[in-house]
Amino acid sequence: MDTPSICQSTASQADFVVVANRLPLHLDTCDPSAPRWRRSPGGLVSALEPILRARRGAWVGWAGTTTQVTEAALPDQEIHMQAVPLGENEYREYYEGFSNATLWPLFHDVMVPPDFDQSSWHSYQRVNQRFAQQAAALAAPGATVWVQDYQLMLVPALLRALRPDVRIGFFLHIPFPPPELFLQLPWRTQIMDGILGADLIGFQLPGGARNFLHLVSRLRGHESVREAQRPPLLGKVLSGGRKVSVGAFPISVDASAMEELARSKVVRERARQIRRQLGGSRKIMLAVDRLDYTKGIDQRLRAFEGLLADGRAAAKDTVLVQIATPSRERVEHYRLRRARIEAQVGQINGTFGQVGQVPVHYMHTTVDHTELAALYRAADVMLVTPLRDGMNLVAKEFIAARPDLGGALVLSEFAGAAHELTRALLVNPYHLSELKDVMAAALELDEADARSRMGCLRRHVFERDVHRWAHSFLTVLGDGGHEPDLPNVAALPRAAMVA
Ligand code: ADP
Ligand code: G6P
Repeated sequence: MDTPSICQSTASQADFVVVANRLPLHLDTCDPSAPRWRRSPGGLVSALEPILRARRGAWVGWAGTTTQVTEAALPDQEIHMQAVPLGENEYREYYEGFSNATLWPLFHDVMVPPDFDQSSWHSYQRVNQRFAQQAAALAAPGATVWVQDYQLMLVPALLRALRPDVRIGFFLHIPFPPPELFLQLPWRTQIMDGILGADLIGFQLPGGARNFLHLVSRLRGHESVREAQRPPLLGKVLSGGRKVSVGAFPISVDASAMEELARSKVVRERARQIRRQLGGSRKIMLAVDRLDYTKGIDQRLRAFEGLLADGRAAAKDTVLVQIATPSRERVEHYRLRRARIEAQVGQINGTFGQVGQVPVHYMHTTVDHTELAALYRAADVMLVTPLRDGMNLVAKEFIAARPDLGGALVLSEFAGAAHELTRALLVNPYHLSELKDVMAAALELDEADARSRMGCLRRHVFERDVHRWAHSFLTVLGDGGHEPDLPNVAALPRAAMVA
């Protein structure tokens, strides 16, 4: 392979490059006569956008459309964006197929059966190669390239082959599965070798990192050294004569930005208006998710229906607002889940609703930042009850949006966030009667208890925000394994200190 760009920097090259399946914006072509740029869905984009803005880096990713996007058509941003094209076939096989019908369910406890399809695998290889080539062309000599998530697990090794001079980080945003699930994958050694191309491999939780270290020695026989004394580092693997560091770096949100928005006049007024529109004195339970089978939306609805049926909640006093972002709509299990959820909403409202007083307000849409912050501020109870989730940023956003110390957070034990947010009301969402009990307890939570919990949760989220996450990862990547700086508690915003 020809690699003349290794030593020659050009004006259009960048020292810091993020490579992710999606760009922070996607081109919405629902109305082909008036295509519009919109914010891309999901936690990865929410987390990385403020980092790239602060570091003025470049972002290589897909623009969310199979129509060709030229560089000139990309909107002007502080972030330099470079679009990787996907054809219709690749969209079906690489994105809907291997990424979201094979890897996504396999890495989320096989909640639905993964497809193991050879032709989707070939497409995944081809598209990963394209991402690697574009990243190789964009990275300046000695640059840092940070590859993101399960759609691009072959990129670290492919990029290393093209550009041995760059420093490569890889971060997995979703859970890394237990060995017996990963081993089901027919292409497990290729995926493992792909990830091992990185200098530093980051997971959300120590459990994922340990699963990975175990698999590396089982599949590859690579020697690994545990680094128990130096968190977030958990181990180092000797692979192909290189040392690869492995660690756990729980991702977070831009807490100050969310708090600033939540304090703004427009958000406070909109929050008051939402409360009035939903019935003034009624308690508001809120849930905000991508419409994904991992999010436990149907279990949550079933629990709410149970509370209404048991008389422990009444539509005149309580309302559930469920916002569900459209997601992966052509993938079969997503279509089926949407139909099931919408039937449940119809059934609950049909049984327990009255004119002007429906118990569930369901919106299958994306809302803008201001509306999202206003919903967070208006809520009495935030329901974050996924069956499995790498982290879940909605839980952290909600906390950041509550400088008033109001609101109770019900949080699934199976969200990565539960490992940090231990003062939330933790619940096993698979256990229906427990879910009902915890939801009922959240509605009744004593105000002093709620404020004390929220104070602790806020302290944690402000201490460990997304900037600290990026700093921690990039420091370990940059210096080969020294501990990141401790947070500067004195510099925390005042509201975060209120307990
Ligand atoms: P995931 O990445 O699996 O979608 P996360 O909870 O980690 O889950 O991240 C979801 C992100 O998407 C959050 O930043 C949240 O604010 C945003 N989001 C979720 N649903 C909506 C919605 N309906 N409208 C706007 N933003 C949303
Ligand atoms: C999760 C994944 C991200 C993905 C996002 C939205 O957060 O970890 O990689 O971008 O979901 O999903 P989508 O398929 O729309 O990109």
